[in-house]
Amino acid sequence: MSVATGPAEKPESKPQLSRRDLFAKIGLVLNGAAVLLLATPVVGYLLSPILRAERGQYKRWITLGELDEFPEGQTRLAKFRSPISNAWDGETDNIPCWVRRLDGEKFQVFAINCAHLGCPVRWFPQSGLFMCPCHGGVYYQDGSRASGPPERGLFEYPYKVEGGHLMIEAGQLPTLSTSASLRKGSGGCQG
Ligand code: FES
Repeated sequence: MSVATGPAEKPESKPQLSRRDLFAKIGLVLNGAAVLLLATPVVGYLLSPILRAERGQYKRWITLGELDEFPEGQTRLAKFRSPISNAWDGETDNIPCWVRRLDGEKFQVFAINCAHLGCPVRWFPQSGLFMCPCHGGVYYQDGSRASGPPERGLFEYPYKVEGGHLMIEAGQLPTLSTSASLRKGSGGCQG
């Protein structure tokens, strides 16, 4: 007499990696390595100006002009060539700034960018105010905040007078940590 049995249970088999899958995976790894290899120098090239600027490697003393070009008691627009510029950058790397000569060798050199969101501010000698066209920020002649959205005064470049020339330390945007006015209290100058 025979005993009926059900279908024999097969042991669970692990899915086998086919040759095709194996080559596909190796291909993916190799492609990833190639992309990494190619992208590293490109990313490094793109980031290097930012990193170097942060380390202050572009900081340089640049002349704004002879002292005679800045009459006492007046505020004048001046331009300098960015030390980060390349030959092909053209006009875009000529950076404007506002120069206020108090008297003798006492100056204030303001970044042209509004302390709110960076629009270029304009000087209005009739009212003795800097005004920002974007959101109505207003600054007094010494760069301190008068009204509007900016929370602080205009940023200032460190400056010095050498050989009858006014020079500023350029190559790094003036910020809270670098601005002369914030290092020495509002409206301060360096000589
Ligand atoms: S950018 Fe000047 S007030 Fe906003």
